[in-house]
Amino acid sequence: MRHLIDPTDLSVAEIGQIIALAEDIIANRAKYSEVCKGKKLATLFYEPSTRTRLSFTSAMLELGGSVIGFSDAASSSVSKGETVADTVRVIRCFADIIAMRHFKEGAPLVGSQYAGIPVINAGDGSHSHPTQTLTDLLTIKREKGRLDHLTIGFCGDLKFGRTVHSLIKAMSRYEGIRVVLIAPDELRLPEYMLHEIETQTEGVEFREVSTMEEVMPELDILYMTRVQKERFLDEEEFNRVKDSFVLDPSKLRTAKPDMIVLHPLPRVNEITPEVDNDPRACYFRQVKFGMYVRMALILTLLGVKNQLAPVRAEEPDFVPEPPVCKNPACITTIETGLKQRFVYTDDTHAHCKCFYCEHDA
Ligand code: NCD
Repeated sequence: MRHLIDPTDLSVAEIGQIIALAEDIIANRAKYSEVCKGKKLATLFYEPSTRTRLSFTSAMLELGGSVIGFSDAASSSVSKGETVADTVRVIRCFADIIAMRHFKEGAPLVGSQYAGIPVINAGDGSHSHPTQTLTDLLTIKREKGRLDHLTIGFCGDLKFGRTVHSLIKAMSRYEGIRVVLIAPDELRLPEYMLHEIETQTEGVEFREVSTMEEVMPELDILYMTRVQKERFLDEEEFNRVKDSFVLDPSKLRTAKPDMIVLHPLPRVNEITPEVDNDPRACYFRQVKFGMYVRMALILTLLGVKNQLAPVRAEEPDFVPEPPVCKNPACITTIETGLKQRFVYTDDTHAHCKCFYCEHDA
C-alpha cells in the first residue's frame, strides 16, 4: 500500500504514469465514470479549504465513488482532544482512502503510519502540498508540452508557501531546470529547503533575486503565490510584506509570448484582474487539471489503475538521541504519545532534520 505525503514519495516514472492517466481521463472521461463504484474517500480537513477539498470531492464523484468527511477542526473530534493516530484508526473502518489537510506539519505522515489505508497529504501547515504539485506538473505538461528544460520563477511567499516547497522538490528531478526565487528577505525559502537545494539538487541552477522585472524575459513559467497571512505570528510583519509583488499587464510586457502564469489560488492582490484576459494566465485552467490529476491519483493509490511497486522497506537513518523539534507548527507539539524523530540529511551525520516537519535541528 502506498501513500502520498511528500512529492518525492513518487518516483519520476510514477509521476509520469499518473500524468499519463490524467491525460487519458481528460480524453476519455466517460470510460472512468464508474470505476470507483462502492469506494469511499474520506476528506479530513482540519484547516479551511475550498478548492482542494472540492477538487478531491469532485474527483471521487466523477469516478463513481462517494465521499465522507469534515471541513474544519471544530467539527471533528480534534476539538475533544483526539489524536491524529486515533482519528485515522476510526476512519479506516468507514473509508477506503483518506485525503488529509492539517494545520500541523507532519500530521498526514503520522496519519499514514496508523491508517492502514492510503493517505494523501492535502496540505500540512507551511510544509508540503503534493497534490497541488501534481496539478502544477499536469498543467505545465499540457501547456508547455514538457517537464524538462524550463526556467521557472517562484514569486511571493516562498517561506510559508507549501505549494512552492513541493513544486521545487518535484521540478528539481527533471533535466535542465533553472529555478529563480523572487521574494523579499522576510519571505525567503526556509532554511531546510535552502539546505536541501544546496545538498540534494545537483544539476539544477538556483538563483535568488529581488524583483520580477529583472528576470521576466527569461522565464518559461511564473509561479505566483499569495502571502500566507494565517502563518504569520506578527501582524506588523505581514503588513510590511503583503504587497511585495503585484503582477500587472505592464510587468508582462517583457515576458516571452509563450510564458505561462500559474497560481495555486486563492489570489488576493498579487495578480491584478486585468492579467486574467492575457492568454498566458493559466491559473483557472490549472484548477480543472487539479481535479483530473486527483482522479488519476485516487485510481492509482486504490490500485484500480497503474499498479505501483510497494515502497522500500528500509527505515531511514534515525538519530539515536533526537533533539526536541523547535518548529511550533510541528505535529510533535500536539500529538500525544508521538516520539521525536530526526533523520540525518548528509552522509557525515553533521546535520539532521525533524522526520515530520523537516525543520533543521
Ligand atoms: C494553496 C494552499 O492551500 O496551500 N491553495 C490550494 O491548495 N489551492 C495556496 C494558498 O492557500 O495560498
